[in-house]
Amino acid sequence: MGSSQERIVAVIMVGGPTKGTRFRPLSLNVPKPLFPLAGQPMVHHPISACRNIPNLVQIYLIGFYEEREFALYVSSISHELRVPVRYLREDKPHGSAGGLYSFRDHIMEESPSHIVLLNCDVCCSFPLEAMLGAHKSYGGIGTVLVIKVSAESASQFGELVADPETKELLHYTEKPETFVSDLINCGVYIFTPEIFSAIEDVFKQRKERANLRRISSFEALLSATKALPADFVRLDQDILSPLAGKKQLYTFETLDFWEQIKTPGMSLRCSGLYLSQYRHTSPQLLASGDGTKKATITGDVYIHPSAKVHPSAKIGPNVSISANARIGAGVRLISCIILDNVEIMENAVVIHSIVGWKSTIGKWSRVQGEGDYNAKLGITILGEAVDVEDEVVVINSVVLPNKTLNVSVQEEIIL
Ligand code: GDD
Repeated sequence: MGSSQERIVAVIMVGGPTKGTRFRPLSLNVPKPLFPLAGQPMVHHPISACRNIPNLVQIYLIGFYEEREFALYVSSISHELRVPVRYLREDKPHGSAGGLYSFRDHIMEESPSHIVLLNCDVCCSFPLEAMLGAHKSYGGIGTVLVIKVSAESASQFGELVADPETKELLHYTEKPETFVSDLINCGVYIFTPEIFSAIEDVFKQRKERANLRRISSFEALLSATKALPADFVRLDQDILSPLAGKKQLYTFETLDFWEQIKTPGMSLRCSGLYLSQYRHTSPQLLASGDGTKKATITGDVYIHPSAKVHPSAKIGPNVSISANARIGAGVRLISCIILDNVEIMENAVVIHSIVGWKSTIGKWSRVQGEGDYNAKLGITILGEAVDVEDEVVVINSVVLPNKTLNVSVQEEIIL
């Protein structure tokens, strides 16, 4: 347990509509942080993890989406979890550190001893309490959650070198072109409020450099940050890289699951990871049934209480069915996310796919992906209100909203 003078504020960076473009067509309907994984909005998972931190006083979501897009969710989650959650809107993108800094006065009003900072588009078990304990023992201004990944995939992330004994962050490079390390930044941090001074220092250096540029003609003074607005500060390149090796930043390695959620394919994979986590954290959310009164369930499945599923359907593993969906007799669902108000008619099959809001899938149809979550057409995605007629087969395809498919398609993007 934490000590009584501790006050923890959590901040989740949710980005805005110009981010998350790889999440289309699903982000055409809903801000990416509110897209459901395992039946709960993506941002709900880090929020629930923060809820369990002792001495948590406030959760802020910082982004540049319109306020109204988050208003309903923020009020219902505050009520449900009995913890104050507020959405703070930036007028424009300030970068991951600049966004945090914009609201330093709000955050400091809570007199936090520590700030837990999370990217909203990562999926993990958020071992925040253990991280907080480690952070206090290190005595630095920040602790970064890190994980070992394959050498081939490391370049998509911030790669870092840490001291194996002290865990100090010795070297940090964001998405390097040549391999540095298979230890990467998970986008989950604990900071002391001194992080605000570190960000302020970057602003100051930027100003000084801009002044120098004005009086000097040396090309060498044109820094890489020239193209960035002065108030745009990135946590990784602008804060972690320069502070590495100065006994200010430390690392905490997770051996549990971790993924980044940039694409619909990865959202399907992460939905499955969160469903399996429910076995330990929220078993009441997992469906059961043996085909007598309720559908046959295999593996981890979430079914919203308002969804209607025929007892002769067979569902799972890794299936998540949202509100008011109707699943007909003899339907087979494997590894898929079925969104609100979808209707799937008799004997249809859906595998490795995401079926968008209000879509319908006709009798004996088949909507399927091959299940490569990283490939562009590795799963099938139907946007909102797509109508797949009876006996039509849709394989490894992306269908934009409001289309009717009356012929079978394979490996196509239907605009
Ligand atoms: N509010 C706000 N304002 N949020 C932002 C902004 C901004 O201007 N820019 C980015 N974010 C949010 C994103 O929504 C995301 O949650 C997080 O900040 C990081 O986004 P990016 O800066 O685009 O970085 P990334 O996701 O490509 O990579 C970062 O995360 C990886 C882990 O998922 C880096 O820190 C990598 O090193 C790291 O491995």
